[in-house]
Amino acid sequence: MGYKEVYAGWKADPEAFWMQAADGIDWDRAPSRALDDSAAPLYEWYTDAQVNTCWNAVDRHVAAGHGDQAAILYESPVTGASSTTTFAELQDQCARLAGALAARGVGVGDRVVIYMPMVPEALVAMLACARIGAIHSVVFGGFAANELAVRLDDATPKAVIAGSCGIEPNRVVPYKPLLDEAIEIAAHKPDFCVIFQRDQSPAMLVEGRDVEWHAAQEGVSPAECVPVAGNHPAYILYTSGTTGAPKGVVRPTAGHLVALNWSMKNIYGVDPGEVFWAASDVGWVVGHSYICYAPLIHRNTTVVFEGKPVGTPDAGTFWRVMAKHKVAAFFTAPTALRAAKREDPKGDWIREFDLSALRTVFLAGERADPDTIEWLQDNLQKPIIDHWWQTETGWTIVGNPVGIETLPVKLGSPTVPMPGYDVQVLNDAGEPLAAGELGALAVKLPLPPGTLPTLWNAEDRFRKSYLDTFPGYYETGDAGYVDEDGYVFIMARTDDVINVAGHRLSTGAMEEVLAGHRDVAECAVIGAGDALKGQVPVGFLCLNSGVNRAAEEVVAECVARVRDQIGPVAAFKQAVVVDRLPKTRSGKILRGTMVAIADGKPWKMPATIDDPAILDEIRDALQKLGYAEVG
Ligand code: COA
Ligand code: AMP
Repeated sequence: MGYKEVYAGWKADPEAFWMQAADGIDWDRAPSRALDDSAAPLYEWYTDAQVNTCWNAVDRHVAAGHGDQAAILYESPVTGASSTTTFAELQDQCARLAGALAARGVGVGDRVVIYMPMVPEALVAMLACARIGAIHSVVFGGFAANELAVRLDDATPKAVIAGSCGIEPNRVVPYKPLLDEAIEIAAHKPDFCVIFQRDQSPAMLVEGRDVEWHAAQEGVSPAECVPVAGNHPAYILYTSGTTGAPKGVVRPTAGHLVALNWSMKNIYGVDPGEVFWAASDVGWVVGHSYICYAPLIHRNTTVVFEGKPVGTPDAGTFWRVMAKHKVAAFFTAPTALRAAKREDPKGDWIREFDLSALRTVFLAGERADPDTIEWLQDNLQKPIIDHWWQTETGWTIVGNPVGIETLPVKLGSPTVPMPGYDVQVLNDAGEPLAAGELGALAVKLPLPPGTLPTLWNAEDRFRKSYLDTFPGYYETGDAGYVDEDGYVFIMARTDDVINVAGHRLSTGAMEEVLAGHRDVAECAVIGAGDALKGQVPVGFLCLNSGVNRAAEEVVAECVARVRDQIGPVAAFKQAVVVDRLPKTRSGKILRGTMVAIADGKPWKMPATIDDPAILDEIRDALQKLGYAEVG
């Protein structure tokens, strides 16, 4: 069957489609039905099932005789470390850490925050939680203490599992002081913290609260897998929205298992036993789905890579690891390949290595620019597949399902909707638009298994953010169009989310931090186009009257403030002081026009603008920063 038949098969009978996909999972109690629509427009999947994620990702493979197969290959060019963890070893490590958590009172439904660098123990921590039905929430290492504190207060974890440090190419980042500060700031205090010590920067332990990783496991019994209900949250992953408060995306256990397992063969085209590598970070959804869960559930070997595409030690690092481990499918963000391309425009590093095992490269997380795709196509001579998804969905909305059929690639399009997703382009009134017309991208409800059923502790926000604008649809927050062949094109976000080096960030959150500076009366942050990172934030600051300090001083303080309160990952390095911000007569800041000016794109004078002259000042300021080059 080709894509069209599979998609039509799903559409004709979604219940049968998802019940059949459920056969790939080992159930403690099999679901009697797939969809539960009793609380529509809130939906759940496989609600009456009983199942355990760790069993499906680890133990069942050992039970089936694959205990000696490599589960995790760890490559750390920043430390020189390299290791292999088999499924049997992973089972043992998960059972012992889960036992340590259980012995200290963590059980089904308790939250555990994980703050770890890219080491195999990060996956062990996630799976250990899943083993005992605890709900993990992984926080990316590039966030500051304040962001970690916000997540501690929202998730109210019983325990935290943290690494003592992370390693960036230019510095060791001690995580433990950040964790200590976060716990200090947060109103909620965890009962205990398990600390994974690393030689590069061992941490001081707080007596009575912190316990070292190995010490925590001494004298406790390994824990068995605990079956949980199909709709039990497997994890919470915070992601950026329009305001400063991150959204806690909830991932339901059973749908997650079924959808991810289905995706490995159908979307990524890999068979059990093959090596699959997603070069991302466990702090992001790509890391959750495709470094940790999906490959392991499907009995693929996963690669945990601690490094960057360039400088660790060179632009050959990706290809070196792929050749060494015979990686069959590779997945990363376009920005990572733009970085490699910049240092290796002719692809000399690519030709250094035997990449005969590699069949396909997948890109997601931001728009895949045609230049980067063409550079890869020319130098690799393999299919380069863009696909579109979000933290909220956890797996592909629009892609090119190479395991079913490799459809012709159209540059600039992630191809076609996957089974489960009825993607529509809507106008402001919620009416479907014709082919080629630009509008809001929305998905007809229900969303498929594995996608978010709600936001943690915030059902109202869930409804407002995703369901209220277009009744009967999930609002993706992206705008785009569908062409006459059914190919979907993603053009822009419709909210204040920007995408910096494949990292999803909120300009609203940055504005909140800037507005907190004592000299700042008003501010705006926009995402300006950047050749490497896709977008970078640029701040505009209006100072309080009577402030007589040098603008550079205030700018430097604001830059430091964002780094300190959100984290280095915000990559907020540029801001300018301006007299006024461009606004509509009703007071709305014209961010879209500012972005167009920054990117040198054509723009129309907004009819509702308060004072058109302000835009000249904005353009001059942007030009000084190296933007707004084309008139
Ligand atoms: N812990 C602590 N700090 C971190 C961090 C972590 N886990 N990850 C990033 N940072 C810091 C970096 O050191 C950098 O700090 P600096 O301002 O002192 O230089 C800052 O956060 C910005 O990091 P980043 O955006 O990664 O920029 P970079 O210049 O270090 O690297 C790329 C640029 C393109 C090479 C890199 O961003 C990359 O590989 N991106 C791929 C992104 C990705 O995998 N996204 C997931 C979705 S698929
Ligand atoms: P995240 O939740 O971090 O995965 O970010 C999701 C957002 O990244 C989407 O809503 C899009 O704006 C953007 N995005 C992800 N994949 C793609 C893609 N293939 N093409 C264009 N934009 C993408």
